[in-house]
Amino acid sequence: MLRKIVQVGNPVLRQKCTPVTRFDGELCTLLDDMKETLIDAKGAGLAAPQVGVPVRAVVVNVDEGYFEFINPIFVWQKGEQYGAEGCLSVKGKAGNVLRPSKVKIIFQDRAGDKYSLVARDFFARAICHELDHLDGILYTDKADDVRDAED
Ligand code: CO
Repeated sequence: MLRKIVQVGNPVLRQKCTPVTRFDGELCTLLDDMKETLIDAKGAGLAAPQVGVPVRAVVVNVDEGYFEFINPIFVWQKGEQYGAEGCLSVKGKAGNVLRPSKVKIIFQDRAGDKYSLVARDFFARAICHELDHLDGILYTDKADDVRDAED
């Protein structure tokens, strides 16, 4: 089911999200809905607080595939990349943000099983952007030039 994407100004976007502790049907429904909502919005990533649920879960849809990261934590971040970002919760805007070029995270899947993953380039950028959401951080806090988006 499509969920409403909350917009900047809503305090749920500024909360520190709580870890997921129950890997149950409610989590599966949340993730299924986040996937559907992300694809419908043609975004690269969506964090649970963006649909009003302040828990540590994000979904990412990039060239490498579709991913669900529950309770994700950075193991390391390396290098630098500078490039444009937007956010489904900050409609019509874009800005350049400095991010690591390569990251390693550990996370759980919807069954609670633990994995690690290394991502680079845009995939790494998407992960950094989404993980920031879990701590109440928006890319506009880090961008040096938030502007009206071209499309
Ligand atoms: Co965002």
